[in-house]
Amino acid sequence: MPHIISSIRFSDYGGSDVLSLSNIELPAPGPGEIQIRHAAIGVNYIDIYHRKGVFGPKLPLPSGLGVEGVGEIVAVGPDVSAFKVGDRVAYVGGPPGGYATHRNLPAARAIHVPAGLDSATVAASVFKGLTAEYLTHRCVSLQPGDTVLFHAAAGGVGSFASQWLKALGVTVIGTVSTEAKAQIARAQGCDHVIIYSHDDFRDEVMRITGGKGVRVVYDSVGAHTFMRSLDCLQPRGTMVSFGESSGPVEPLAVGTLGAKGSLFLTRPSIAHYTADRVEYEGAAERLFSAMRDSTVVAGKPSVYPLAEAAQAHADLESRRTTGAVVLLP
Ligand SMILES: NC(=O)c1ccc[n+]([C@@H]2O[C@H](COP(=O)([O-])OP(=O)(O)OC[C@H]3O[C@@H](n4cnc5c(N)ncnc54)[C@H](OP(=O)(O)O)[C@@H]3O)[C@@H](O)[C@H]2O)c1
Repeated sequence: MPHIISSIRFSDYGGSDVLSLSNIELPAPGPGEIQIRHAAIGVNYIDIYHRKGVFGPKLPLPSGLGVEGVGEIVAVGPDVSAFKVGDRVAYVGGPPGGYATHRNLPAARAIHVPAGLDSATVAASVFKGLTAEYLTHRCVSLQPGDTVLFHAAAGGVGSFASQWLKALGVTVIGTVSTEAKAQIARAQGCDHVIIYSHDDFRDEVMRITGGKGVRVVYDSVGAHTFMRSLDCLQPRGTMVSFGESSGPVEPLAVGTLGAKGSLFLTRPSIAHYTADRVEYEGAAERLFSAMRDSTVVAGKPSVYPLAEAAQAHADLESRRTTGAVVLLP
């Protein structure tokens, strides 16, 4: 039966002020869908790209927002056998619409949440933690003793990734914009921290590595860092360009990769690393088990009421947040 829910919506692409809380009618879940009552909702940089109408196909307007959440299943549509009413689930992906008290979701995107992990922590962890999981375990094959450069190391994904890389025996050079963030990055296991708002990170990487460069650069900052990141790689190193927080990366001539040392370049997306159900469940199990044994510890998230989603976006965009950002309905 349809019922009225509260949801953050927007009717124009633009700044955080386009977001507002509305009451909308939510239909009963359709075939293959579950209906979730959210306990906590994750905020991610991709939500900002969706709101601005940049990166990938634009969402048809008016639209909801949000691709990460945790909650209890309150209704199950036809043809769903793996989940039942009362199950606690988390999800990453599916159609945007997570910034809401309730939502319908394809059951294929849901994963069971083990007992012992609270919902706000899980909402702070699944998108960023699963991104860190595939970046550190499946996107590139890393060996103990490798050295990597990870930009925005005190951010949401950066916090999970630096801890995981450290646990894998990798030497991590992290970049951050402020001394306060540098302290967080060090506490999370970065062996070296560069404040890239003051220091040229390319010079610093070469100084730290004795001119050798790093095996992998993880770059989610994009426009402001991409070309200099290539210069930090050792010959046959790998550039993992996985975001564009500072704007899109300019087109690159393929020959540049040869000239700079037979480099590898990938532009991965979590969507392609969790599309297969078996891989998705395996990645979630690896993340939950790393959280249970404290290989990765989800820091305290920045928490906002659902109605203040616009403020959460403004803070994330202006680099005021550290770790993850969570909305509570
Ligand atoms: N490809 C994928 O599968 C995937 C999945 C998840 C996330 N991502 C990407 O990973 C990145 C991190 O996502 P997140 O949600 O965890 O965000 P976040 O790292 O918490 O926030 C972004 C950080 O980027 C840094 N930054 C550098 N230049 C910036 C600029 N001009 N404007 C804003 N921020 C800037 C800031 O850290 P400093 O202040 O320290 O510079 C900021 O805190 C995003 O680019 C996101 O799109 C990609």
